[in-house]
Amino acid sequence: MVGKKLAVVGTGYVGLVAGACFAKIGHDVICVDIDADRIEILQKGGIPIYEPGLETLVHEGVAAGRLKFTTKIADAAPCDAAFIAVGTPPRKSDGAADLSFVYDCARELAAILKPGAVIVDKSTVPVGTGDTVERIVRKTRPDVPIYVASNPEFLREGSAIIDFLEPDRIVIGCSDKAAEDILAAVYAPLVDKGHRLIKTKRRSAELIKYASNAFLATKITFVNEMADLCEAVDADIAEVALGMGTDSRIGPQFLQAGPGYGGSCFPKDTLALVRTAQEFGVSLRIVEQTVTANNARKRRMAQKVRHILHGNVEGKKIAVLGLTFKADTDDMRASPSIPMIELLQNAGAKVHAYDPEGIEQAKMVLTDVTYHLDPYQCAQDADAVIIMTDWESIRHIDLAKLASVMRSHVLIDLRRVYPPEEAAKHGFTIETIGRTGLEPSPISEFEPHFMHSDLNVHTRQAEEQTA
Ligand code: UGA
Repeated sequence: MVGKKLAVVGTGYVGLVAGACFAKIGHDVICVDIDADRIEILQKGGIPIYEPGLETLVHEGVAAGRLKFTTKIADAAPCDAAFIAVGTPPRKSDGAADLSFVYDCARELAAILKPGAVIVDKSTVPVGTGDTVERIVRKTRPDVPIYVASNPEFLREGSAIIDFLEPDRIVIGCSDKAAEDILAAVYAPLVDKGHRLIKTKRRSAELIKYASNAFLATKITFVNEMADLCEAVDADIAEVALGMGTDSRIGPQFLQAGPGYGGSCFPKDTLALVRTAQEFGVSLRIVEQTVTANNARKRRMAQKVRHILHGNVEGKKIAVLGLTFKADTDDMRASPSIPMIELLQNAGAKVHAYDPEGIEQAKMVLTDVTYHLDPYQCAQDADAVIIMTDWESIRHIDLAKLASVMRSHVLIDLRRVYPPEEAAKHGFTIETIGRTGLEPSPISEFEPHFMHSDLNVHTRQAEEQTA
């Protein structure tokens, strides 16, 4: 195979992973970013984000001469395809995706790309964005054929490289055969290994990304609500999820009950999808309820802690283990640990926190937290420990040692890492989720109806965290 010349604009999670993986499968890749500091780090062999395996992959690509970094978009001029992978943060006014970076990027690429090149949108963008990009391109270069396509990305933080190189599917949405041929050639090394390429209308490709994320967010929210019911009726959510997930029509993944979904994608994308539907006069009641229920769940988790500490956390030392929205990432965006810590602090608790990768980002969104790089130091003299993220290091805590350093043996396990029986052996009183034999937590603050204020709270948080 002859490698294509590719540009990837934006070196965030999606752009950097895509660039490194394109180089890995044989293409010549130039990664562009306006952030000079970030490009300097990359040029010097550093990696500005935490993603397992990425550093090695980037170094390999650079050593092979197939991966380069630049701040000058003009360096993308000789490319066959230029992928836009810039941020689409929620707009201040209404939570809809802010597409100004995407449009700026399209304008700049249209001005420099060679005839017959394709501009490919990889950022998560609402339906119809490709049409607007196409209008921008036509206006900028009316005389030259430059194509526009959509190629959404389905990678998860923490397993992004494997998700990219071994995808369930690759979706390309093109309005021209020429663009489709270029993208089919770009992905040929993966298709040759048996990975499925799905060719769709450009608008379908744009919607597939949002529909997938909204469906997964709803699946998690469904299982979280079932976990609440399990607590009330003396059942166990792990058993219920196993019994459900073995039905091949349901599938076992994303049935893990937890403190509510977070991250840079599900909260932002569910909200943007609701907005898009509203614009087109369509009501997405299920997605709206998912947004509301998940926000309420995150708040409600703090009530579990207060409940087990007899309604009073004033002056108590609470040790939070895990800050990031999930394990294997340093990303704090919309992490359930944020409302948990803020609500506990508002109620007078002194919060200490441990996280192997998330502390720097946590410092930008949380105040008055004492951070530790050792879980036992974090738990020293604590009145309660809360497990918020199931990092490998947290999965392997020595419970006897943990108990020996704490003032009071209270463990609130919101990721179901430790079987209550095992924790009990070490003298812990344990509160978990979706498990038999536990006293149900009070649900007084739970708001069962869809409220626009929820969307606003959600937007504000997402904005603050993407700022
Ligand atoms: C998500 C999607 O899974 C990717 O397919 C998509 O490409 C990406 O968003 C995106 O749009 O860029 P990500 O946000 O990295 O990926 O994280 P997930 O692994 O999907 O987890 C999201 C949240 O759901 C986390 O807070 C996680 O703890 C929670 N979760 C996940 C559960 O509570 N239970 C589960 O069973 C699975």
